[in-house]
Amino acid sequence: MTADRDTNESGYLRSYGRRRGKKLRPGRERLMDDLLPRISIKPGTPVTDQFPSRLRALWMEIGFGGGEHLAAQAAGNPDVGIIGCEPFLNGVAKLLSQVDEQKLENVRIYADDARDIFPDIPDGALERVFVLFPDPWPKAKHHKRRLIQTPLLDQLARMLKDGGEFRFASDHMGYVRWVLSFALKHPDFEWMAEGPSDWRDPPDDWTRTRYEQKALAGDIMVYLRFRRKARA
Ligand SMILES: C[S@@+](CC[C@H](N)C(=O)[O-])C[C@H]1O[C@@H](n2cnc3c(N)ncnc32)[C@H](O)[C@@H]1O
Repeated sequence: MTADRDTNESGYLRSYGRRRGKKLRPGRERLMDDLLPRISIKPGTPVTDQFPSRLRALWMEIGFGGGEHLAAQAAGNPDVGIIGCEPFLNGVAKLLSQVDEQKLENVRIYADDARDIFPDIPDGALERVFVLFPDPWPKAKHHKRRLIQTPLLDQLARMLKDGGEFRFASDHMGYVRWVLSFALKHPDFEWMAEGPSDWRDPPDDWTRTRYEQKALAGDIMVYLRFRRKARA
């Protein structure tokens, strides 16, 4: 399929902003040239074959930004493989520098739209999916670009194992309401919150992302966790 301004190669409506920022410093350019090809997800091959078999589970973060949360999760969970997807190449370079410095061996990167590699993720292959502070696309005419919609939830439900978890966070209340409106009526997910602290406070194993640190100045943060129900 031919990509135009608004759709990507797989035909998805663009859900992200720019792909490039400032020119990369030479060390990060080198990591893009040397390290990225070694740990890139290869489309067309099941992701389960792209990690060492000793790992006990696979997680995925969609839109990792600068990769702070992903790198911390990878360091804290060396027995878990983590797929990170991010089309913003300066963010990819930043995650690469953390992977390199911390010698993280359990990270694989897809430096583009996460939805391209969904066909390579077998049913029930993922134990956790993170979508943290996704672009809120606040104008009504752009809502259709929001990543979380029923087709994406359908795909997450397919890829998550029974009891697996989908974590979402946002400081944009319009987007929070939007996600709740889709997720609460989705037959395969249940909201895990039992009280206000479950959505007001981040989970215990949380590392604040760069976006979150900037937003913390004034806004309310909401953290939503959904469990993938057991398949019938
Ligand atoms: C507002 S930023 C937040 C980044 C990071 N999660 C954080 O909290 O700092 C949203 C990110 O999602 C990425 N993104 C948007 N659509 C995406 C998609 N379809 N696949 C992967 N990443 C995507 C954007 O490029 C952007 O870096």
